[in-house]
Amino acid sequence: MHQRILILDYGSQVTQLIARRVREAGVYCEIHPGDVDNDFIQSYSNLKGIILSGSHASAYHEESLKVPPAVFEAGVPVLGICYGMQAMATQMGGKVAWSDHREFGYAEVRARGHTRLLEGIQDFTTPEGHGMLHVWMSHGDKVTELPPGFKLMASTDSCPIAGMANEEKGFYGVQFHPEVTHTQQGTAMLSRFVREICACEGDWNMPDYVEEAVKAIREQVGEDEVILGLSGGVDSSVAAALIHKAIGDQLTCVFVDHGLLRLNEGEQVMQTFGDHFGMKIIHVDATDQFMGKLAGVSDPEAKRKIIGGEFVEVFQEEASRLKNARWLAQGTIYPDVIESAGAKTGKAVAIKSHHNVGGLPETLNLKLLEPLRELFKDEVRKLGVALGLPPAMVYRHPFPGPGLGVRILGEVRKEYADLLRRADAIFIEELRKAEDSNSGKNWYDLTSQAFAVFLPVKSVGVMGDGRTYDYVVALRAVQTSDFMTADWAELPYSLLKKVSSRIINEVRGINRVTYDVSSKPPATIEWE
Ligand code: XMP
Repeated sequence: MHQRILILDYGSQVTQLIARRVREAGVYCEIHPGDVDNDFIQSYSNLKGIILSGSHASAYHEESLKVPPAVFEAGVPVLGICYGMQAMATQMGGKVAWSDHREFGYAEVRARGHTRLLEGIQDFTTPEGHGMLHVWMSHGDKVTELPPGFKLMASTDSCPIAGMANEEKGFYGVQFHPEVTHTQQGTAMLSRFVREICACEGDWNMPDYVEEAVKAIREQVGEDEVILGLSGGVDSSVAAALIHKAIGDQLTCVFVDHGLLRLNEGEQVMQTFGDHFGMKIIHVDATDQFMGKLAGVSDPEAKRKIIGGEFVEVFQEEASRLKNARWLAQGTIYPDVIESAGAKTGKAVAIKSHHNVGGLPETLNLKLLEPLRELFKDEVRKLGVALGLPPAMVYRHPFPGPGLGVRILGEVRKEYADLLRRADAIFIEELRKAEDSNSGKNWYDLTSQAFAVFLPVKSVGVMGDGRTYDYVVALRAVQTSDFMTADWAELPYSLLKKVSSRIINEVRGINRVTYDVSSKPPATIEWE
């Protein structure tokens, strides 16, 4: 079993980032609610250190969550971040004061006292020779009196105690957020904490994880058969490749083509998984069935429901033919696990309401196999590459479960889907080809999601000597790190010009191309 860091979550929006930084440092960690009981901590095996997250709550208020006392008695180093530091301070006998002055954004912090955590880590030095750090602060309250046994580790003008340490015990607190990228040395600090102070060896990496995961799957399913709904998306693809490596022909994948996939996607899935990996795949072409159900329906929510419901139906029918299957595999990943745990306890603010189309059909009576449930998306991608999946597939933009169904406004028709597929493929091809001279990267990699949207309105155009009266497509390209907020991408005009001209010339039936310049919020990324 891996050495483990336990992250206790007090409700900060960025707790997941702490976990990602720790994993990037090669150390396995898990996030659990901040009010777990003492027994949980005492029986947490291979524990090497604990990190207390930030919070929107105030450590000063009586009713705020307390850190379980066992944290400070576990005999491992503890790092408190923001609220975590304040909670550590109050519980160890220091003082925290409420402040009406919120400090939010960049700050320059002076490192003090040569602690192990910050030793040699700095962004610049003042003329007086003080080591300084650029950090990200977001707090109202602050520690005003150090607990006994603690020394000052960092300070700013407005926050004299911005860091504290009791090095004998291995307890550290920072008022700023090392987990966000704005804190330039944040990764170095978290890595210092887990690798040196907690003395973790760094036994967590994806290529090595393959063998461990394969062994775990074999132990879990034994001789049983497993079914997996393959969508062609990153998570289900990596899950399929991993499970196939573990149990080979005991796995059957069901690939439902609802007629709303991108150009050549069905062929690509069959080639990669069928021809290349040699997996057993049932390819169901259900285009007519989906189009039939969608005929005449133009309300976005009604369309989503139909696509989701139909998908489950088709999948269920195929699955019921596989009499020996005992397991249903899903590509659930760690953020889904944390979000649904948070939703259950009511602590994390629930944000995501999208559901995946391949939602679990409970009537199947199958046990769940979720081999990616401990991994973050970037780890899933690295695992995919380690398993031999094509990097272009593993690093693809996300694609919604209802597919082109939410990118054809109003009623979905096969004719519209065919036009949209071709326009979309041209856009993606040109994004991949166009290189940005500043970064040396292509525009596909510089955007988080890009696609074409079909507008079922006709506008007048002129082509050669003739008048045209054809449909419109809108191009959408956004940049985002979490898909909760997004900026429209400032694509070069030359690129937009090329894409527009190719679509209008090559896709007969479309005579006008527009570019969507709305950010999220108030717009969403998809149009429906
Ligand atoms: P919006 O349009 O809400 O989209 O800004 C945010 C992200 O979620 C994706 N999306 C979905 N993914 N099933 C999915 O698996 C869905 O029903 C769904 N709806 C939106 C969207 O593509 C974007 O990445």
